[in-house]
Order: sequence, then C-alpha cells, then structure tokens
Amino acid sequence: MLKLLQTIFLSALILCIASCTGPVEDYTTKDTLVIGTSADNPPYEFVKDGEIVGLDIDVIENIGKTLGKKIIIKNMDFSGLLPALTTGNIDAVIAGITVTDQRKQKVDFSRGYVSTSMEVMFLEKNTFQKVEDLHDKHIGVQSGTTWEIYAKSQKERFPQMKITSLPSNLILVEALKNKNIDAIIMEEVQVIKFKNKIENLNSFALNDTKGEFAIATQKASGLAEIFNKAIDKLQLEGTLYPIKTKWLSN
Ligand code: ARG
Repeated sequence: MLKLLQTIFLSALILCIASCTGPVEDYTTKDTLVIGTSADNPPYEFVKDGEIVGLDIDVIENIGKTLGKKIIIKNMDFSGLLPALTTGNIDAVIAGITVTDQRKQKVDFSRGYVSTSMEVMFLEKNTFQKVEDLHDKHIGVQSGTTWEIYAKSQKERFPQMKITSLPSNLILVEALKNKNIDAIIMEEVQVIKFKNKIENLNSFALNDTKGEFAIATQKASGLAEIFNKAIDKLQLEGTLYPIKTKWLSN
C-alpha cells in the first residue's frame, strides 16, 4: 500500500514538473498559437455580440496572418494571464498589458505597439481633480494590474484611502455606478470609451504613469522575437495605423 502511494506521489510529481514548467515549444514551426486575453477592456479587448473584438485582437490576428499561424483566443481573468503563460497553458498574452521591470523578470515582451497612461474615472457629481482629492476615498482597481500597484502606492501616502481589487473592469464600472466605490483607475483610452457610453462620468489624468503595451511571451521561448518581426512588417506595410485609428478614435 505504502509503495503504491509512493508511486502515485512520484508520478504526480513528475507530471507536475513536466507541466508546471511547461515545455518550451519550437515557435518557428508551431502553426497554432493560443493567446490569452481578458475581454473586459474596451477598446483593446471586449465582448461584442458574443465575440471577442478590439484593437489587441486585430493586432494579434494580423500578426497571425503575417506569420501564417492560426490564432486561438482564450478569455480569462487578467490576474490569471501571466500565471497561465508561465505554466505553458497559453503561448502569449495580449491584454493591454503594460511592460514593467517586475513583469520582465518572469516573461518576455515583444516591442510595444501602443503607448498609454492612466486616468482616474468617477461620477461627475464629485469634483476630484488630483490624487490628493482621493486621500480618504474608496478606489476600485482590477486585480493584478499596474492600476492596482499605482493605487497601493497612493495608499501608502494616504492611509485613509480604501482600495478594492476586483477581477473585472466591467464589475468595477458597475460598482462605480452603484456608488459602492468613489473612483476607478484605468487606462486613459478606456476612460474615453466608458465616458462615451455611460452618462455622468468624469476623469482626470495621472501624468506620471506613461507606459507601453506589448505582447507577453514565455521567457526565452523566442516567440517575442518572432512577434517583433511581424510587428515591424505590419508597421512598414501601414497595417497598424488604421487598426489604431479604428479603435482609438471616438
Ligand atoms: N495596463 C494594465 C496592466 O498592464 C491593465 C491591463 C488590464 N487589461 C485587461 N485586459 N483587463 O496591468
């Protein structure tokens, strides 16, 4: 009995080592790529008429076309994306994900394809104009994001600030409408989109939060370099520009 248990334990351990580290694929020959996203992020990725669409989706579909690889999109919570990547459940992440030094320790990034910066969005009856005005307010952020990191750094300055992290942007927007939170931190272009759709919202910019979106891949998999060549080609051909104007214009 003990022997049997030992064998089961050992096999499980071996299986876990094999799958938990995720075998690195040969991406030059692999013809299908599974791409993780979190489709709660208009205009970058969101669900419209039951389909995942957005700027990021157009970018990755065009990269797939250029490389002659089929793209399969897998939707999950944002906080699960990088863990899924490191365990090899997905080949890459495109999700309006900002390049940071901390993330670079765990994953590789392609070159940036969009510049961005953060904003604070709130109900217009409030007259917030700067972070200091939020010193005792309740801020909502999406779990696992740079927005959450920014909010936590502000809480260190303002201990009375309250922060709630939730898995989805869409739930956060509902919480704001229902006055369960006072403000949300997200990307400036998203704020424009939400303001266009929902009445009585206002926002201010967080000037010190410039960043860049890139595609995250497994470390040392070679896929980031493959994506870079495709991004360069799309840029040269003039394919990226119309995608951006299509989704970023109002
Ligand atoms: N840009 C932020 C980050 O990298 C938030 C991204 C959220 N993306 C999403 N699809 N919900 O952390």
